[in-house]
Amino acid sequence: MLNFDNVNFKYKGDDFYTIRNLSFSVLDGEFISIIGASGCGKSTIFRLINSLEKPESGSITIDSIPIHKIKNYSSYMPQKDLLYPWRTIKKNICLPMEMQNKTKKEMEEQSEKMLKEVGLLEYKNKYPRDLSGGMRQRVSFVRAILTGANLLLLDEPFSALDSITKIALREWLLSEWQKYKKTVLFITHDVEEAIFLSQKVFVVTTQPLTHFEEYEIPLNYPRDRNCLNTSNILQLKEELIVKLRQEN
Ligand SMILES: Nc1ncnc2c1ncn2[C@@H]1O[C@H](COP(=O)(O)OP(=O)(O)O)[C@@H](O)[C@H]1O
Ligand SMILES: [Mg+2]
Repeated sequence: MLNFDNVNFKYKGDDFYTIRNLSFSVLDGEFISIIGASGCGKSTIFRLINSLEKPESGSITIDSIPIHKIKNYSSYMPQKDLLYPWRTIKKNICLPMEMQNKTKKEMEEQSEKMLKEVGLLEYKNKYPRDLSGGMRQRVSFVRAILTGANLLLLDEPFSALDSITKIALREWLLSEWQKYKKTVLFITHDVEEAIFLSQKVFVVTTQPLTHFEEYEIPLNYPRDRNCLNTSNILQLKEELIVKLRQEN
């Protein structure tokens, strides 16, 4: 689905590359986490995918089409929700549909349906400030889904939340992923989170970022927290932690 082929990138003014000859592929419907030390270039990959930055050379394609020739193929969700404080929850959710010129009736139906599904219908006329951090991230996620994009780029979306909320939202995210069959790239620095969520974990171990070390996670879905306590998963977690510590 998504393909990087020999991508090179450096920020303006830098005399070193952040990303060097990077090639990788993501299959349709996959859930992949990217982990690596702070500053290693993870968010830069997302900036390249959503065309906020352009590679110096190499190609980025979706279903073999260069990304500059397509629109609305990815949706980005950062650590801090980008909800508009002056819009109600429902109006925030309607935003991507307004941009697609959906009718009022369609927006009404879709937004209510989605809010109901994520258990937030009673908050539809509230404002972002009235909701907890976890609720706001659920609203953000719904908005990302409603852009209609198949590829979701989630950049540490749970890292600012308390640990109990995180646990609940991870399980919630997996059920949403299975329901909507989106392709998900998920950046995190939490090894356990990466293992719990993903089919594959991409580990960044080089500076500049030249390749990912890919790990398949030997767990089936649906998953619950107890999956993490088997000996092979604990061993994998240990291996990844050791790998990441070597880089610091
Ligand atoms: N807009 C920018 N201009 C210049 N340098 C940047 C910019 N954004 C990030 N960088 C630098 O690029 C490197 C990779 O950043 P980033 O992709 O944000 O890392 P990560 O998300 O893995 O923590 C860092 O050294 C960072 O300081
Ligand atoms: Mg980052």
